[in-house]
Amino acid sequence: MKDETCIVIENRHISKKYYMLKIKAPYLAENAKPGNFVMLKASSGLDPLLKRPFGVFNTNYPFTWVYYEVVGKGTAAIANLRADDPVQVLGPLGNRFPAFTGKNILLVAGGRGIAPIHYAICDYAPANNVFLIYGARSAGDLNLVEELKGLGLKKMFLYTDDGSAYQKGFVTTDIRRIIADHHIEVTVSCGPDAMFESLAHEIGGIGTENWVSLEALMGCGFGICYSCAVKTTADEYKKVCSDGPVFKMEEIAWQKQ
Ligand SMILES: Cc1cc2nc3c(=O)[nH]c(=O)nc-3n(C[C@H](O)[C@H](O)[C@H](O)COP(=O)(O)OP(=O)(O)OC[C@H]3O[C@@H](n4cnc5c(N)ncnc54)[C@H](O)[C@@H]3O)c2cc1C
Ligand code: FES
Repeated sequence: MKDETCIVIENRHISKKYYMLKIKAPYLAENAKPGNFVMLKASSGLDPLLKRPFGVFNTNYPFTWVYYEVVGKGTAAIANLRADDPVQVLGPLGNRFPAFTGKNILLVAGGRGIAPIHYAICDYAPANNVFLIYGARSAGDLNLVEELKGLGLKKMFLYTDDGSAYQKGFVTTDIRRIIADHHIEVTVSCGPDAMFESLAHEIGGIGTENWVSLEALMGCGFGICYSCAVKTTADEYKKVCSDGPVFKMEEIAWQKQ
């Protein structure tokens, strides 16, 4: 990992509170792997003090893309960045999605969880049969669909909670049928905690190999502060930043099973 000041190339508003940030970050673009994340901060000042974590959406040397939702102070400051502005970048951080060849893989994305899943599609599609379930609250939260169509997916299943676009339902609504119909061997998911709880309930123990990329509140991003601890089924705590963010679904102690 490297801590550096990078340059904003573009900060594009996508819809509602969603943006795509493109930065010139040669070290990051050369070293990031699918599943890794970066810590970002808009200014070198004290407010906000800490960098915020974001999954790597894509890289193409010397550029890196981050897809983000504005939820508070740090992300609002990032949304105000303009081309040529400096941005503080620490990364790449965390572990990566496991590598697969010749597998039937189902990727599952909830809302902004599409960010690391996009990078996983780019990685897996050339050598595997890749399917995607992508869901969000409503039409304006389900972005980048046209872009996803060009990535070599075998099939894409789209849902909104309120039915304002595509099929009404959750990413879990038809997941068991999709897994059976397409002989899915591996699932890889990223989304909010509530989505993981439902996923663990629906697909835990049905025979697929299941991986999740977790979000957590983070202070440092590299294992020092313990703010990102998550409880495992072995009754231990693991750090999302340095043990993860990618874990086997069965390793995490979900509340609803
Ligand atoms: C490994 C990792 C990858 C991530 N990837 C992305 C990404 O690709 N795109 C993206 O938009 N966001 C991503 N996030 C979430 C993002 O880091 C937070 O939304 C961001 O830190 C919020 O900062 P803020 O200063 O705007 O909000 P704050 O003012 O810090 O918080 C605003 C509200 O959001 C809540 N919140 C903040 N962080 C989290 C979190 N991690 N989980 C749940 N609630 C939280 C706070 O409790 C508060 O209620 C990721 C988080 C992690 C840990
Ligand atoms: S964020 Fe500090 S230990 Fe994980």
